[in-house]
Amino acid sequence: MALQLGDEAPDFTSDSTEGPIKFHEYLGSSWGVLFSHPKDFTPVCTTELGRVSALKPEFEKRNVKVLGLSVDPLQSHKDWANDIKETQGHALNFPLLADPEKKVANLYGMIHPNANDTLTVRSVFVIGPDKKIKLTLTYPASTGRNFDELLRVIDSLQLTAKHKVATPSDWKQGGDVIIVPSVSDADAKTQFPGGWKTLKPYLRVVPQPK
Ligand code: BEZ
Repeated sequence: MALQLGDEAPDFTSDSTEGPIKFHEYLGSSWGVLFSHPKDFTPVCTTELGRVSALKPEFEKRNVKVLGLSVDPLQSHKDWANDIKETQGHALNFPLLADPEKKVANLYGMIHPNANDTLTVRSVFVIGPDKKIKLTLTYPASTGRNFDELLRVIDSLQLTAKHKVATPSDWKQGGDVIIVPSVSDADAKTQFPGGWKTLKPYLRVVPQPK
């Protein structure tokens, strides 16, 4: 059965461009993003890895460690890294797992045989400090991901892990949020002393808590 939200992220050991990685140990108390791309030396993947390298400070700000993966061998990743630096203006600055035996790819269900039975699709797993899966995304090979959206989702995951709120459609850091329905008005008075706006009894809008 496919990995689902709330499942423990399977642990593994893998070679990477930054040496062998024991996944859980590597994450420590950080959040994690594990994402796969179909193949080295391909155009969309090149832009994706350049973009993630450019956004590394944004991931670090959020205490997130990022790992990429494809089923290509380590030397291929290392050779391709030169092209990423040359064409994207950012050198690869996070570990790229080399998974030619498809050990991690199979563990995480990153190969979707009806799309391609040998290559990984564009999977994303966001993992919390408790090692539980908080978000999954799957894109086909033909569509590059929007990593600003991934950061936006991580902001929501981190906020809602800390406060009893949910984030509305298209929410961005600093925008108003919603008090979750399980919080009574009486409890909300303690948790949101600045008050909120009730549009419907189930739709209570409050400024984003700090
Ligand atoms: C790409 O990254 O451009 C790509 C990879 C595999 C299939 C199609 C496109």
